[in-house]
Amino acid sequence: MEWTEDLSVGVDTIDSQHKELFSRITDLVAAIKEHTCKFKIGDVVRFLDEYIVFHFGEEEKYMLQHGYPGYPGHKAQHNEFIANFNNLKSELPKLEGGQKPGSYDLSVETNQVVVDWILDHITNVDKELGKFLSSRDKDL
Ligand SMILES: [Fe+2]
Ligand SMILES: [Fe+2]
Repeated sequence: MEWTEDLSVGVDTIDSQHKELFSRITDLVAAIKEHTCKFKIGDVVRFLDEYIVFHFGEEEKYMLQHGYPGYPGHKAQHNEFIANFNNLKSELPKLEGGQKPGSYDLSVETNQVVVDWILDHITNVDKELGKFLSSRDKDL
């Protein structure tokens, strides 16, 4: 999973946070697929957990600062993601117990819950916000 220029929302701070998210999600997907040691999965999940909250918080701060009309819908999507990610998180310890049969399902689930969601969210929702913000504040 790679961040490419066509995913740019036109706001540097948001883009660089997305790049960081992409690289950590790539680590998570690899850790699950390769069924590597529990510490790696745990570390990546912990980092993602905090970083997602930080990143969503930053976007929401911008929305409020600039009176973005799409704020409620955008925030609802963030909340939905956090709920889904929490569900996924509760599944991941199964891998630590060495239950290999779950690893394929978990890869698929991670791809749907995290990878597909983020691509869709950036493309359809964050880009819309980026357009609005860059029309308002050139310094962002
Ligand atoms: Fe967002
Ligand atoms: Fe975002």
